[in-house]
Amino acid sequence: MSAPAPPMGLIIELTHRCPLQCAYCSNPLAMDAPKSELTTDEWLHVLDQAAEIGILQVHFSGGEPMARRDLPALVARAAANGLYTNIITSGVLLTDAAMADLLAAGIDHIQLSFQDAQPAEADRIGGYHGAHEKKLEAARRIREAGLPLTANFVIHRQNIERVGEMIALGEALGAERMEIAHTQYYGWALLNRDALLPSAEQLAFVNGIVVAARARLNGRIAIDYVVPDYHAARPKACMGGWGNRFINISPSGKALPCHAAETLPGFTFPSVRDETLSAIWMSSDAFTRFRGTDWMPEPCRACDRREIDWGGCRCQALAIAGDAALTDPACHRSPDHHLMAEAVAAAANPVPDFVPRRLKQD
Ligand code: SF4
Ligand code: FES
Repeated sequence: MSAPAPPMGLIIELTHRCPLQCAYCSNPLAMDAPKSELTTDEWLHVLDQAAEIGILQVHFSGGEPMARRDLPALVARAAANGLYTNIITSGVLLTDAAMADLLAAGIDHIQLSFQDAQPAEADRIGGYHGAHEKKLEAARRIREAGLPLTANFVIHRQNIERVGEMIALGEALGAERMEIAHTQYYGWALLNRDALLPSAEQLAFVNGIVVAARARLNGRIAIDYVVPDYHAARPKACMGGWGNRFINISPSGKALPCHAAETLPGFTFPSVRDETLSAIWMSSDAFTRFRGTDWMPEPCRACDRREIDWGGCRCQALAIAGDAALTDPACHRSPDHHLMAEAVAAAANPVPDFVPRRLKQD
């Protein structure tokens, strides 16, 4: 295999701490303890290496990245290194003072998540009373600062009938881009799948609303729409291909090809405390094992889409079919495709309660 091109993006999960408890969170069930998190200097070293190896953008994520007080210093270093900087946040900690610090640091973009369009429902799903109101204030601050705003709405059974209201909210807030994303079933979301997975009828309802909104808002607001794999005939190109476009770093410094990779057995994920980003990207087993097409089984091996979707998602192949090296069961050509429909059927009524995300499990 020829040497890979540099990664396009670095996803930094600064911390697993978060004031919210969303049941659809894709963070792992076993989260990193605060005391294990990389220090400011360690993150700064990572950001310097990122620029050196040609990475273009850095996404500060979590948990809630604003729970780290050093976020402005990290944004400033990334900006000084010429990296495009994005924060993926719940917004509940985005006060006037925090906004001013981030602006001074050179932040380029903020993606703000909303749990619903109705405050009481949003606060219930996020497990935080008053969160929705704080998010509205955060959106106002972002727009007043002149920054581009992406409003992110994660869709599932508990909020799906209000997707039209969510789009109206995004419009009212002046978002330049909206992300209407069906839940991706990893980590806590996989644990809560039966309480979250929509039916085919609910999916068709959302599809119709999104198509109409896209036509109406064409040229004004871009709407990215992420469909649920469980109702798909073809898998998504997860992470743009394994070890192909992104490096994801966990709060404690493990370099991962995707945010859910720690669920895969038989891997030792390298730490940025011990190895350089360059060595991790170019030659670690973790990043090379499923890179490209050589690893692929049938039916991917002979398929004309193998360099389009890269065989789908390794973590989903493990979670649904029991083996990360198989074709993603979201693909209609996979011999395991029927398992997706069976999961949808298992998520039929009555809808169970969901388990709120929390740092420590009981
Ligand atoms: Fe993609 Fe493999 Fe399905 Fe082909 S067989 S569409 S490469 S997942
Ligand atoms: Fe891990 Fe898709 S989430 S490869």
